[in-house]
Amino acid sequence: MVDIGVLVSGGGTNLQSIIDAIESKKVDAGIKVVISNNPDAFALKRAARHGIPREVILKEDFPTREQYDTELARILKIHDVELVVLAGFMRIITRPMLEAFPMRIINIHPALLPSFPGLNVQKKAIEYGVKFSGCTVHFVDEGVDSGPIIIQAVVPVRDNDTADTLSKRILEEEHRIYPQAIQLYSEGRLCINGRRVIVKGASEPAGVLENPLAAIFAS
Ligand code: GAR
Repeated sequence: MVDIGVLVSGGGTNLQSIIDAIESKKVDAGIKVVISNNPDAFALKRAARHGIPREVILKEDFPTREQYDTELARILKIHDVELVVLAGFMRIITRPMLEAFPMRIINIHPALLPSFPGLNVQKKAIEYGVKFSGCTVHFVDEGVDSGPIIIQAVVPVRDNDTADTLSKRILEEEHRIYPQAIQLYSEGRLCINGRRVIVKGASEPAGVLENPLAAIFAS
């Protein structure tokens, strides 16, 4: 069992997938608090529906990112949070948070890192012309979307995709792998070795992926 704090800024579909996985006992965790930098985030309403404590921390109230993060860490500690889960939290995490929760902050990103860090990455993936995209759950370090990778899921990029259709395809996988990553943490199965995260007891997928399937050399 792990006590988590979930940080949000927007719609909170990832938060919802975590709540659902906990309520259906697939994930052995408790959400101690949901914190938003955006008072209008729909994620706060989702938390309220499930009786989860909520806090809003406004950036306007803090002159620097470090001061904001010092307050964030303070509130998370008050709620006895062990693992911090960023679920669409649109702020860069700075030293006071990294020091308060060393290798205990995880993030989900809608691309196959290290390709396409940052913002609007589904649009960038389409414009670049990649044939696959996906999502990545990773530990947070001092960089942007750069920490050790825990789990990734791959989806094809289709010729007629828009940023919207690709985002939806990726989100479905986010909702699957983020709860899994939390459960792996809760079971103590994540071993960090430098940049590599070894998942104890996991198996590797067989076969290869190819997109498009031109079937020229089909056997
Ligand atoms: C998700 O796609 C998440 O991967 C992304 O924001 C969306 C939040 O959706 N996060 C980032 O881009 C962080 N760099 P949600 O509020 O419905 O969970």
